[in-house]
Amino acid sequence: MTVDFASRAAELREQLQYHIYRYNVLSDPVITDAEYDLLYRELLQIEQEHPELLTPDSPTQRAGNDLSEDFPKLRHPAPILSLSNAFSAEDLTAWEERNLKLLPAGTKLDYTLEPKLDGLTIVITYENGILTRAATRGNGELGDDVTANVKTIRTVPLRIPVHKDGPPAPERLVVRGEVMFLKEHFEALNRRQAEAGLPLYVNARNTASGTVKQKDSRITATRPLTAYLYSIVESVGVTINKQWDMLEYLRDMGFHIPPESHLYPALSDIIQQIPTWESRRNQLNLEIDGVVIKTNDLLIASELGVSGKDPRGAIAYKFPAQEASTKLIGVTVNIGRTGKITPTAQLDPVFVGGVTVVNASLHNYDLVEKLDIRLGDTVIIKRSGDVIPYVVGPIVGVRDGSETPIRPPETCPFCQTPIIQPEGMVDYICPNLACPERVFRKVEFFVSRGAMDIEGMGPQTVKTLIDKGFIADEGDIFYLNPEPLLELDKYGQKKVDNLFASIEAAKHRPLSQLITALGVDGVGGTIAELLARHYISIDNLMSASVESIDAIEGIGPILAQSIYDWFQNPHNRKVLEKLRAAGLNMRAEEKVAAGDGLTGLTFVITGTLPTLSRDQATEIIESHGGKVSSGVSKKTSYVLMGESPGSKADKARELGVSIISEEDLRKMVGDQT
Ligand code: IVH
Repeated sequence: MTVDFASRAAELREQLQYHIYRYNVLSDPVITDAEYDLLYRELLQIEQEHPELLTPDSPTQRAGNDLSEDFPKLRHPAPILSLSNAFSAEDLTAWEERNLKLLPAGTKLDYTLEPKLDGLTIVITYENGILTRAATRGNGELGDDVTANVKTIRTVPLRIPVHKDGPPAPERLVVRGEVMFLKEHFEALNRRQAEAGLPLYVNARNTASGTVKQKDSRITATRPLTAYLYSIVESVGVTINKQWDMLEYLRDMGFHIPPESHLYPALSDIIQQIPTWESRRNQLNLEIDGVVIKTNDLLIASELGVSGKDPRGAIAYKFPAQEASTKLIGVTVNIGRTGKITPTAQLDPVFVGGVTVVNASLHNYDLVEKLDIRLGDTVIIKRSGDVIPYVVGPIVGVRDGSETPIRPPETCPFCQTPIIQPEGMVDYICPNLACPERVFRKVEFFVSRGAMDIEGMGPQTVKTLIDKGFIADEGDIFYLNPEPLLELDKYGQKKVDNLFASIEAAKHRPLSQLITALGVDGVGGTIAELLARHYISIDNLMSASVESIDAIEGIGPILAQSIYDWFQNPHNRKVLEKLRAAGLNMRAEEKVAAGDGLTGLTFVITGTLPTLSRDQATEIIESHGGKVSSGVSKKTSYVLMGESPGSKADKARELGVSIISEEDLRKMVGDQT
């Protein structure tokens, strides 16, 4: 079979043009960036292998066009170029080798590494230090004049230098950067939408783009955009020869530059850094879709010139896509241990973040309604790191009218009890405490690690025990008989012995673990620990008033009420009595302070310590009057660091917080071992 490359190339060009228009002009794409990249790379490959098929208007030859009719046009002083992409270390090495061939023998290159910010390009002009105009990228030569909108962005200085002791303002400075929403600001924006009963925004990048291209700058002003600037397009009165110096110069002028940017002496150092960036990606407060690697020497970069619309001196390393689009073909209902109903999306299988995904969380019915997700919609799926894949939102632009709204069920699919939505809550629940699915989820949680930690009692065993009628609640676990179990399939003597040994051991768990295991809504390990320490016994907690619970630091009024209600509920009290009669530990050990040598000091623990676990180190610090917190700030006294520390160690260095080892800690508390 011969492939008709000419017609495939034409088809790809047409498709890409359409998607470029949706993305750039309408800020409303109907495919994901990764899907776009795939089409783009296919076209690029055909054109490379069949140069005769290359047309001057091919999307591979032109920067995208985001011009709209709503704005006057501004001409950029120099073309606003794009970047070519790399997807592997090999791509990067090949890129450097191609460049070295164009340079005198023996040339050594150093590089900056910057995050690739997922926003929209902005070009801002300052004349004698005053912001005079701002434009979108447009077609790379002409951009939309969005000066009024850009002036509303707080991180864009209206006058430079921002600080009096900054470098003097040059006669003219044209800078390029990226406008976007920080994750927390985008979430806040959506909270506002929800409060106003308005539909939620699905995608931060497209919302940022739509916001910058608002006709009414008063609307733009109400949306918390942020801008990072990373290059100088033109300057009169100042010359800078290195990318790194450029970033420092921009920073000294008072611009925000891409966070965590660094200079490295060789490409191999950059390649080494990439895994760290990939794992850090989800912790950052901003969306990045890769990193950008730039030749530090700007004279060499300009000598290397441009290929198509991409400068040869820089390249974008794109992370594997965390998003993909697929069809929502069904919705299943799950009931949790608290009775909460969560809808789960059934999807046409889609490959995302390295795995094939067939179902994804739809969060709750309230959000389904706010995002207007319909059955039959093409939806965006996100799978980031270890997070369960979830539906980000629908692609409204490809609906054909056959999509149907998704409603919560009227009765519980497991026990047929009518579903209710408690006043003021977003969740729908099955209110039946004896609902078999609820009981299963409750027991499954009760025995899990961090809760009662009953080894050998996985979900399958729990299911069997419930189905066979051996247990009807958590309390029954401790009254099981071994004999009937031995009759079951796959339950030999050894397995049953082990199970009973773990059940016996679970009777002696600390009170905090028992409280966690009860599965009170909103009570995880930390809150359970607070309650155990405060009340010392289950009896005290069972007779505590809402006011007394609310008075504990770290517990708010809503949680206090939920805890109080749980312990007053007759069904729950019955289970507790069963557990008591079975001989479970219901008292906390009163802690004896080992000393007060660390009073007033706050510690943050990062990395793996040589001999102590994190809990043991916390125990030592707290028993000597110190505090342990999770995030490094100026208030942190010490960062206790072990092997493979995370970004907390960088943060500590940045803030000048002292870093100590486990041995140092032992010395501080006078431990000679
Ligand atoms: S440099 C010629 N640096 O990514 C200079 N671009 O895929 C090209 N981007 O069009 C741009 N973060 O909109 C550069 N630190 C960064 C960036 C960055 C995000 C965007 C930019 C560019 C696109 C290329």
